[in-house]
Amino acid sequence: MSEPQIISNPAEVQKIARQWKKEGLSIGLVPTMGYLHDGHRSLIHKAAEQNDRVVVSIFVNPIQFGPNEDLDSYPRDLEADTAVCASEGVDIIFHPEPKDMYGEHFLTHVAVDDITTVLCGKTRPIHFRGVTTVVNKLMNISKADRAYFGQKDAQQLVVVKRMVKDLNMDIEIVGCPIVREEDGLAKSSRNKYLSAEERKAAPVLNRALTKAHDLMDAGERNADKIRQTITEELQKEPLADIEYVSVVDAELLKDVEGEVTGPVLVAIAVRIGTTRLIDNFSFGE
Ligand code: PAJ
Repeated sequence: MSEPQIISNPAEVQKIARQWKKEGLSIGLVPTMGYLHDGHRSLIHKAAEQNDRVVVSIFVNPIQFGPNEDLDSYPRDLEADTAVCASEGVDIIFHPEPKDMYGEHFLTHVAVDDITTVLCGKTRPIHFRGVTTVVNKLMNISKADRAYFGQKDAQQLVVVKRMVKDLNMDIEIVGCPIVREEDGLAKSSRNKYLSAEERKAAPVLNRALTKAHDLMDAGERNADKIRQTITEELQKEPLADIEYVSVVDAELLKDVEGEVTGPVLVAIAVRIGTTRLIDNFSFGE
């Protein structure tokens, strides 16, 4: 098990990546904000399987956080993260400071329209512009052939795929399944914010989605009925405060009215106390 190199300077990573490309080696990129758990690990593992070299970025990206969000309190643990990366054979941990990524006079953003203003974009208006901008930078810095994203953040995956397609970017986006705790709660760095009581309430998200999935498996196709089933299940949990319950088409993320006829994303956002949790499933892909 060799230790990954931890590098903060974008130019230094770029230089190594340039050399790798010259040698004909393929590069996999796993963008993260750190505090790595088994969800991140599954992405890193797949990247290591499919590429000669792996770059994991650990960067709590300030431009994707709104003014009242958790930028300052976002959990960090570089030592534990390094151990995870070492055990998966990661070559480089790219760990820049904000000033390394956004120097003075940073003026350029990459923004995807329409599909970033629905679902999470409704309450997080600048979020996806921050994500697409940083992901673009990370792809350019690492010169990756493939980049790995979790279905956990389904809208983020759709948005990144759209950016890559629309801008003819020469990189393959690999989506990876949601990794869950034993009680069904999707793993997330933000689960750390939950009190013991809130943690007990949190599996309600997965329970509600599972109920909807079962209904659809049994043939239900009415979008309102699916939304209603999820909402009712969530409302049984007094600590759950619903932000949205959506059934949207899988590509353009438009609300499905009436019957589900093609591939859909069933996605929810729920506050448990002050912690905002998201979960989803895809159907018919
Ligand atoms: P972060 O929340 O750290 O997540 C990094 C990657 O891990 C994302 O692609 C996310 O979908 C994936 N992931 C998180 N939890 C997962 C789980 N339980 N199962 C499977 N995959 C999971 O998403 C971000 O960081 C940032 O927005 C980023 C893309 C790094 C841009 O700053």
